[in-house]
Amino acid sequence: MRVGARQSDLIGQTDLLRIPSLSDLTGCDIFIKCEFQNPGGSIKDRAAKQLIDDAMERGELKPGMTVVEGTAGNTGIGLAVVAKSYGLRMLAVMPNDQTPEKERMIRLHGGELMAVDPVPFKNENHFYHTARRLAEERDDCWWANQFENTSNARAHYLHTGPEIWEQTEGRIDALVSVAGTGGTIGGNSRFLKEQNPELDVWVVDPDGSGIYEFLRSGEYVSNGGSMTEGIGIMRLVDNFRQARIDHAVNLPDQDLVTLSRYIRDEDGIVLGSSSALNVAGALAAALRKGPGHRIVTFSCDLGERSVSKLYNPEYLRGRGLNPDPEPIDVLMTRYRELGDKVLEVNWNND
Ligand SMILES: Cc1ncc(COP(=O)(O)O)c(C=O)c1O
Repeated sequence: MRVGARQSDLIGQTDLLRIPSLSDLTGCDIFIKCEFQNPGGSIKDRAAKQLIDDAMERGELKPGMTVVEGTAGNTGIGLAVVAKSYGLRMLAVMPNDQTPEKERMIRLHGGELMAVDPVPFKNENHFYHTARRLAEERDDCWWANQFENTSNARAHYLHTGPEIWEQTEGRIDALVSVAGTGGTIGGNSRFLKEQNPELDVWVVDPDGSGIYEFLRSGEYVSNGGSMTEGIGIMRLVDNFRQARIDHAVNLPDQDLVTLSRYIRDEDGIVLGSSSALNVAGALAAALRKGPGHRIVTFSCDLGERSVSKLYNPEYLRGRGLNPDPEPIDVLMTRYRELGDKVLEVNWNND
């Protein structure tokens, strides 16, 4: 048990939890790292703290200044939490199609919110460019730049990866992760592969993201769309470049409905949508590897942040999704037959 002098001291050192139902079904041990335990409720608190710590150490960021960031929400919440602990202000630039749950939390943590229309990245009004411009225009602002600033992946290289290594006592066969900025998969895969080069790293990609196709063909092309938030990307960024990846799989939103309901009913764990995708990827990895393996993935944020989408039957129907889950054995049969839809890749920028 820790005693923190300020809230940001409580970021990290999250628990690892074995998912009983899926572990029993597959004969593997499938674990989630409980990142919803962070003070801001998501894995992005770790990136937020490292981004700010490193900038303060370099002297770029000083108390009284404003941190500006373009964010799908969780990084904004994390930065608002850390900013308060450090005597900084926070301005989040956020597309206005994200769940209201996250907007509310940024404001509750004292952050200022600028909501912008969602537009393609090449449009200068994209939240990323808007945040950069705002920070450039004002001397008292500092742009966190979670995509290209590799303090983000460093948070996981220095902390999350070592925690997983210690919690599993070095017995881990596969790491499965979604990617937004790639900080999580970048820092964790780098650290854990340094300990065990045989570790099998999987990236799981939702529809509408180009990572899977990029790893297959070198081109960012996407198909369809996804209700997941904070994950998937259509360009190569420096945090993703840190990653070492052996397998890539693309899984549809309908599977998130099935798995989130199954895990909720069997294990009492309420997953957010990106976490449900992680667990789907971990299940696919377990079925491909066979019984006896130990697989770690992340519960990236609080399930509550997905109430208005993943857990909302009306919203699901509006997206053409069936709110009723498929039987788990039907989903598992499909996953056993993924075959070469699971890409073998060698993404390793060393
Ligand atoms: C809910 C959620 N899951 C996963 C991620 C992806 O993490 P990373 O940016 O480290 O790739 C994010 C990023 O914002 C997120 O908000």
